[in-house]
Amino acid sequence: MAKKKKAAVDFRYDTGPARVPWSAVGEPVLEDDVIELVKFLLPPLAGKKRAYEAQLKRAAGEITKLRACSGTAGKLSLSKNIEALEKQAAKILRAKYALFVTNATAGFEIAHKFAGLKPGDEVIVPAITFISTMTYPLSIGAKIVLADVDPRTINIDPEDVARKITPRTKVIVPVHVGGYPADMDPIMRLARKHDIVVLEDAAHAFGGSYKGKMLGTIGHFGAYSFHEVKNITSLGEGGILATNTRFGKDFARSRFLGIDMGRQVKNWLYDVVALPSRSGYFAPPNHSTTEIQAIGLMQQIGRLKGIIAKRKKAATYLNSRFSKVPGIIPPPLGDAKIKPTYHLYLLQIDPEIVGDDAKTLKKKLSARGIVNIPHYAPLYKFSILRQLGYDTKAIEKTCPAAEEMFQRSFTHLPLYDFDSEQLKYLADAVIDSVNEMKAGK
Ligand SMILES: Cc1ncc(COP(=O)(O)O)c(C=O)c1O
Repeated sequence: MAKKKKAAVDFRYDTGPARVPWSAVGEPVLEDDVIELVKFLLPPLAGKKRAYEAQLKRAAGEITKLRACSGTAGKLSLSKNIEALEKQAAKILRAKYALFVTNATAGFEIAHKFAGLKPGDEVIVPAITFISTMTYPLSIGAKIVLADVDPRTINIDPEDVARKITPRTKVIVPVHVGGYPADMDPIMRLARKHDIVVLEDAAHAFGGSYKGKMLGTIGHFGAYSFHEVKNITSLGEGGILATNTRFGKDFARSRFLGIDMGRQVKNWLYDVVALPSRSGYFAPPNHSTTEIQAIGLMQQIGRLKGIIAKRKKAATYLNSRFSKVPGIIPPPLGDAKIKPTYHLYLLQIDPEIVGDDAKTLKKKLSARGIVNIPHYAPLYKFSILRQLGYDTKAIEKTCPAAEEMFQRSFTHLPLYDFDSEQLKYLADAVIDSVNEMKAGK
């Protein structure tokens, strides 16, 4: 019963000359709230508490004065800063559409809905990734198929993907683990041949590229994470979904419950629509984001090039140290065609040469105060697949490289703006640990 077509504005805030506008029902943000945010974002340094208290008092006084001559923030959700961020992201990615959502996992959900994924359909994901890569398909009763990984990068192995495609395969999800590009050309060839949707898990990969194309824009969809541990963050949580497909036209409605301010039903202010997918219609979720998150992310995007350059420099230093040590296998660092984001450093050892495995290396590193990143275990190790009825032992047998690498040869090191002392300490700690292992200590 859709009626009139009207401009797509949010009626709640577009109250024109009303003397009691809708936005009056929301409490304004006051100076005390701002001061609390400042305290949270800029906490006192140990040993500087007195200086901090004095500066904070001064800053609070200035904020109170500022408040006396400022208006209130107005719309806090889905407004101009989010529009600006999406424009900025689309430009950087050279993508037609970018949608700012609560996190990458929400982006995956929306992409799978556009792909028309149904219970019983199959989705191929790499054996080694974060759990979120497979969560949405599992949640609707689609079947997860784990592909083995390429031992050089721990990214999805396209040859194993080819072996595991069946007539029920609807989506392939390559993951650019640690920001190093998965080999997309063979995956896209398979996708074209079998009419399969490719959703790139580009959680670590905003700003990286593969053969001239930005990571996350090579497949049909790509989703990036701006969770607090990523290279850049939208103040804790956030994600962007990108596409060049026609589905991008429905992005805004796919994020916010299908509410369509541009259409009205009789005697009401808007319409609510289901959205067309590759097969049938779907009911959109609510993955709306805040203006404050968008402001935070735009600021950080402004610093992205420098952030990636610093991480690259750190990775290059580690490679130069490790390449001199037999038994340590430095990761590929990219070249003119392959440009990673250096989110994580993939440290590998050859257990035959070192005489011991990555489990011992991890223990030795943590004893030296190096925090390795433990969460990229093969997905068949977690209880969830077994609890959902998968034969995880049988799956493990189909992923020999993932099993071998997890048990024996890889870990991740953090990579960020280390000072030269920290970086040297990190390299020394790895080399000393490996030397001890070689000596059987
Ligand atoms: C490989 C990978 N995919 C997906 C995600 C999920 O991102 P988000 O927390 O934004 O949903 C992460 C987060 O760490 C990740 O590491």
